[in-house]
Amino acid sequence: MLVSEQDVLKQDIAAWVKHYGKDRCYLIPILQEIHRKYHQCSEFAMQVVADELDIHPVEVYSVVSFYSFLSHDTHGKYVVRLCRTISCDMAGKDQIANQLVSDLGVDFGETTPDGKFTLEWTNCLGACDQGPAMLVNETLYVGLTPEKVHEILETCRRTFGVYALQNKEGHA
Ligand code: FES
Repeated sequence: MLVSEQDVLKQDIAAWVKHYGKDRCYLIPILQEIHRKYHQCSEFAMQVVADELDIHPVEVYSVVSFYSFLSHDTHGKYVVRLCRTISCDMAGKDQIANQLVSDLGVDFGETTPDGKFTLEWTNCLGACDQGPAMLVNETLYVGLTPEKVHEILETCRRTFGVYALQNKEGHA
């Protein structure tokens, strides 16, 4: 019997609900798990979470809409978020932004055509004394220079195959 992608998603959500607990206070960690594996929180996923936690789908949707780290749009495998708050701004975030746009060939708010990278702005990451700072998925990079950014992106490109394989097997 063929198992559909929706069946797999439902099984994953059921497993995460079992792991964290069937309570609305675990809504965010469950949504983070979905986002980590599927790079989005689709309408179907939000409905399944609502059913599993026995809450209204609007509650799930409002949480996904509120937190910029959760999204119902499809994201790239690597989500690059550059801090645009004042300390990083003064430390040279524009130069870093130009390097990211040049290396990735997309603007902020866009995903590369191969689906590997999404580029976004974010607000303070709590590393104000070490700016410019950015996150790549859940890894924080500080003291950025254009050269360092180029190296980080190249490392992501080189490890993409490994990352994709791990993600497919559920180890991401
Ligand atoms: S201002 Fe960029 S990390 Fe705080």
